[in-house]
Amino acid sequence: MDVTDLDTSDPDARRRWYAAQERAIRADRPEALLEAYDAWELQATEPSAHAERRWLQVVEDGDVVGTASLELPLSENREVAWVEVDVVATHRRRGVGRALWQALAARAAAADRTRMGGEVTVVPEGAEVARRFAAAMGAVEQHREDHLVADLPVRPAPVDAAYELVAWRGRCPDEHRAAYLAMRNQMNADVPVGDLDLQAAVLDDARLAASEERLARSYDVRVAAARRRSDGAWGGYSLLFVPHGATYGWQDDTLVMPDHRGRRLGAALKSANYAVLPPEVTLVHTWTAPSNTAMHRTNTAMGFRVVEHMYEVEAALGPTIA
Ligand SMILES: CC(C)(COP(=O)(O)OP(=O)(O)OC[C@H]1O[C@@H](n2cnc3c(N)ncnc32)[C@H](O)[C@@H]1OP(=O)(O)O)[C@@H](O)C(=O)NCCC(=O)NCCS
Repeated sequence: MDVTDLDTSDPDARRRWYAAQERAIRADRPEALLEAYDAWELQATEPSAHAERRWLQVVEDGDVVGTASLELPLSENREVAWVEVDVVATHRRRGVGRALWQALAARAAAADRTRMGGEVTVVPEGAEVARRFAAAMGAVEQHREDHLVADLPVRPAPVDAAYELVAWRGRCPDEHRAAYLAMRNQMNADVPVGDLDLQAAVLDDARLAASEERLARSYDVRVAAARRRSDGAWGGYSLLFVPHGATYGWQDDTLVMPDHRGRRLGAALKSANYAVLPPEVTLVHTWTAPSNTAMHRTNTAMGFRVVEHMYEVEAALGPTIA
């Protein structure tokens, strides 16, 4: 089986790769959230300084029937390679997935990576094909998160009167950057990752600015934060992405700082972001570990429902893979 690298300089090849991946994913996962084409294309054509990425494919009779992606982090976690494999439904169970996985493993090992990690997502009560495939490839489940969605509007949740709401779109204003960076780094250190052995990314002003600049090209980025009126202490923030032109949002981080917990600030900050979205945005996606009881309850109380289970898996790179 011939696995080839996608020629990312060819716009037609890019479209065909993305369309095949989308078809493969949608076959089993109607509620899947895919990276929007524009955002994916930006990664493919203008690589970030923090990760090297490659895309592989299997082409049969002129059609892309299997796709794979490889991400090699360059700042933290330099021993890890992040991977994904998707095969169109009509071409499964013929070894396409295995061939792509082995090609990923070879490239990851050549880049001195010792482990491959990925996300395997299945519909609850559905066929667990992806989990079986991952297990057959030698990958072990390390952490689970639920993928939840909520229809907008959700019932508004007021911000505790002791706090003022501070919100912005796009770049964080200069006067809030130090506080925002402190909260972002606290989030990266605090977020539960189960058994995954990973280093948290550490943001400084330059890295935040570079990521804001890149994200703004693909997303309307919205942040809602809370500041205590009595002393100006920052209580938390919530970060939401809406791909340009999309009818859905993607709820990313929500952090309530340890001293400020128990005041329903998480729900208030999320709902503050949702309340000011344009009316065409009617759905929000989020991911929460079921073990993160506080956030899972916050989400379900707001109207989020579980649509998928996502397992983070990891395989050691070595002779067992080949
Ligand atoms: C998971 C997926 C990539 C497998 O692709 P594939 O080309 O069918 O996989 P292969 O034919 O190479 O199968 C390799 C092994 O995986 C296991 N496997 C694959 N499909 C399976 C199924 N339906 N039931 C049980 N085991 C299965 C088997 O052990 C198989 O080896 P075998 O055929 O010798 O028994 C494909 O079903 C898919 O794209 N699913 C949707 C996207 C997805 O979930 N991707 C995984 C994220 S990394």
